Amino acid sequence: MERETWGSKTGFWLAAAGSAIGLGNIWRFPYLTGANGGAAFVLVYLLLVFTIGVSVMLAEFVIGRSTNLNPVGAFAKLKGGAWPIVGWMGVAAGFIILSYYSVIGGWTIKYIISSFTGLISPTTDTTSYFLGFIGNGPQTILFHALFMAATIYVVYRGVGKGIEGWCKILMPALFLLLLILIVRAVTLPGAGAGISFYLNPDFSKITSKTLLAALGQAFFSLSLGMGAMITYGSYISKKVSLPQSAATVTFLDTAIAFLAGFVIFPTVFAFGIQPGAGPGLTFITLPSVFAMMPGGQIWSALFFLLLFIAALTSAISLLEVVVAYVTDAQGWPRHKAALVIGAAIFLLGIPSALSNGAVPINVFGMGFLDAMDFLASNILLPLGGIFIALFAGWIIKDIAKKETTSEGPFPLEKVWMWICRIVAPLAILIIFLGGLGLF
Ligand code: PHE
Repeated sequence: MERETWGSKTGFWLAAAGSAIGLGNIWRFPYLTGANGGAAFVLVYLLLVFTIGVSVMLAEFVIGRSTNLNPVGAFAKLKGGAWPIVGWMGVAAGFIILSYYSVIGGWTIKYIISSFTGLISPTTDTTSYFLGFIGNGPQTILFHALFMAATIYVVYRGVGKGIEGWCKILMPALFLLLLILIVRAVTLPGAGAGISFYLNPDFSKITSKTLLAALGQAFFSLSLGMGAMITYGSYISKKVSLPQSAATVTFLDTAIAFLAGFVIFPTVFAFGIQPGAGPGLTFITLPSVFAMMPGGQIWSALFFLLLFIAALTSAISLLEVVVAYVTDAQGWPRHKAALVIGAAIFLLGIPSALSNGAVPINVFGMGFLDAMDFLASNILLPLGGIFIALFAGWIIKDIAKKETTSEGPFPLEKVWMWICRIVAPLAILIIFLGGLGLF
């Protein structure tokens, strides 16, 4: 059977940007920024994204396109030995991330509906509303199931018709919604304090934990370190410039995260709410903010619709990594792979759905969902990133050169190579060990 490819360069860019842009940009980035002191965190994040992030993304595209294979197959074909383990780690990370990602994706569906059914009212205590909902086992499992079903449906349809077709509609819609919300947010009276929190750095706020949080966020947000971009890269035609693609996708992802901050912080400050509220920042503070605005139900529904769209286009890339592996390696038809693996991921997500108040399920002193997120974002993805960078920089040098210059000269090739060889692995290792408190 002929392997699927993207229909066009723009289609691929939108799909890859769709993978990158997700809950990571609109939910995780603002709450981490709020909890880590604002502008200084943003600066460190930007620095990591445009050095290490963009370089690892290019490395993943190279590995994917040069083999047209899933992450495990790609490492096996290019070098073999122990390298396919990196691909395995990626497939495992995809499985783990999607299991809890879908739970939060389910929350967004619930909140679209709730916007019209009582959430948005001056008398609603949004904290108890949120805690009541996430502590309701059957409901959270139901919405997790709905979100997984949507994800499975798109992947089931395949690369061109499913993933690319949907991203081409959903990504521009998301951008438009975000612009509308920014206009609303920055014109609120008192928005200025939020903007200055967001843009005036205070470097005393930077600690080794902040650095690991920024690094984990860079990998999570750009969908790096687990082979999602290897998989999407494996469907790129030879006529697309990889450096240009990595730059475009990194830019789009960062722009959306940065813009999301302009929705969250002005609104939060305009209504005198604490920016460090943590993971609840989006689900607790924004609804109470919307309740105080004219037309609040509509703004709220729009905002959570946006979050749902962003989450869906990311979730399909997570599922696609595992599906690509099973179709390539085990010869399963796409339909069967999407259904069976989707169902398995749904099951693994159940403890995450239940661990937020319904049933106490703790691992390493954290709730199950938080433990899964920590394991994936702060451990598996940075580790994967180290090996992917080393692989591109040392093991497949010639292929890397050929792939990155296929569509004309790549002026930054040497810089990229040295980032992959030395800078990225070393920086990730140092931040990683420091953040875990190991030195
Ligand atoms: N990048 C996605 C987000 O920001 C999450 C993701 C991580 C998707 C890893 C694929 C792979 O929400």
